[in-house]
Amino acid sequence: MSKKLILYISFVVACGLSLITYSVFKINPHHISDIVILIIFAAVCESLPIYINTNVSVSVAYAVDLMALLLLGPYEGAVIASIGNLLLIRDINGKIKCALNTPYYKTLFNISQIAISVFMAGITYKYLGGQSGYIYPKYLVEAIIASCVYYLFNSGIVAVLIKLLTNKSFMSIWIMDFKWGTINFLFLAFIGILMTSVFVKFGYIALLIFFVPLIMVRYMFKLNMELKQSYYDTINALTKALEAKDRYTLGHSKSVEKLAVYLCREAGFSEAHTEMVRIAALLHDVGKIGIVENILNKPGKLSKEEYDHIKQHPVSGYEILKDVPFLKNVRYWVRYHHEWYNGNGYPDGISGRQIPLEAEILAIADVFDALVSDRPYRNAYTREEAYKIIVDSEGTQFSPRIIKLFKRAYEKNKEDFKHDF
Ligand SMILES: [Fe+2]
Repeated sequence: MSKKLILYISFVVACGLSLITYSVFKINPHHISDIVILIIFAAVCESLPIYINTNVSVSVAYAVDLMALLLLGPYEGAVIASIGNLLLIRDINGKIKCALNTPYYKTLFNISQIAISVFMAGITYKYLGGQSGYIYPKYLVEAIIASCVYYLFNSGIVAVLIKLLTNKSFMSIWIMDFKWGTINFLFLAFIGILMTSVFVKFGYIALLIFFVPLIMVRYMFKLNMELKQSYYDTINALTKALEAKDRYTLGHSKSVEKLAVYLCREAGFSEAHTEMVRIAALLHDVGKIGIVENILNKPGKLSKEEYDHIKQHPVSGYEILKDVPFLKNVRYWVRYHHEWYNGNGYPDGISGRQIPLEAEILAIADVFDALVSDRPYRNAYTREEAYKIIVDSEGTQFSPRIIKLFKRAYEKNKEDFKHDF
C-alpha cells in the first residue's frame, strides 16, 4: 500500500468513526426500536446484493439507507447504514464473507464511507428545510437533492480510493462509475423515497412490500447470470473442438481472450462490453473449422492456393455467427480481425477507422500470442521481441490508437503477456 493510500484510508476512517460516535450520542431515544429494525433490514439487504455480472453487484441497502435518513434524520441514518453494512454476510461462490474474515481496514473504510455519505445527505435534507418522516409532496425536491448528495459522496470517496489504487485519473474513474451507476442510483433513489412515504402511511408493512419483489428481482438476475455462463461454456466447448483440429493453436483462443481483457480495460470498456469482446476472442478463429486439416497442420510453407483458402476463415467465422442475434456485433469483429491499418489486410481490405476498435484489440492480441508461441517453422519469440515487432508495426499493420492501448496494457501486466494455456 502506498503512503498516500494509507493516509487517505486513515482520513476517511477517522472522519467516519468520529461521525458514527457523535451520531450515537445524538440519537433520539424514542427511535431506538425503529433503529434496531432498520439496521436488521439494512443488513439483510446488504447481504442479498443483486449481481449484474460476476464482478458488479448492486445493493438495495442504498434505498434502505436513504429511507433511514429521510425518516429519522442524519444521526440515526448514519448509525443504521454503517452498522447495517458491518453486519452483512454474503455468500460469494460458496464462501461466506463477513466482517470477521475481511481485512479490518476494508471493513472500517466501508462503514466509514457509508456513514459520511448518509450523514452528509441527512444534513443536506435537514438544512434545506426537509422534515423527517414527511416527504411527499412537500419535501420531495429536498429528498431528491439529499439522494444526489448521498450518491456524490458515496461514488466520490470510492473514486478517490480507486484512483490511488490504479493511478487512473479521478475524473475518468468517476465518469465511468457514473456511466453504469446512474441508472441504478435513480432506480434506488426512487425506491428509497417511495419506501419512506409508504412507511409513513403504513408502518413496517412497507418493508415487507419491498422485500418480496427484491427477492424476485434477485432470483431473475441470478437466472440471467447462469444463462450467460452457459453461453460462455458452450462457446468454450466450441473453441476446444476447433483447437483439437488445429494442433498449433492449442490454448491460443484462451490467451487471446486474456490479453483482450487487458486491452479492453485500457480502452475503458464497460464490463458488458468487455464480456462481448471476450466471447469474440474465443471465437475469432471459429471459421477455421471449415478448413481441411492437412492445410491447417501443414508443417512446411503453404502454397498460394492453400494460403488463400486459410484467408477465408474470417468470412467463414462471420457466416457461422451471423444468425446468432446475441452475437450481433461479435460477427463483425471476427470478420475484421486480420485487417490492417494501412488496408493491406484481409478479407475486405478496409483501413484506418473503418476497422472497429474491438477488431483491432482481437488482432493485436492474436498477433502477440502467435509470436510468443512455437510454430513448426520457428521457435517462439521472447516477450520483449514480440513487443518490439508489434510496436514497430505502428502505422502499417496497427493503428496508433491500438498501439497506445497495447503499450499501456503491456507495461501494467507484463508478467501475463505470455502464451500459457
Ligand atoms: Fe485468424
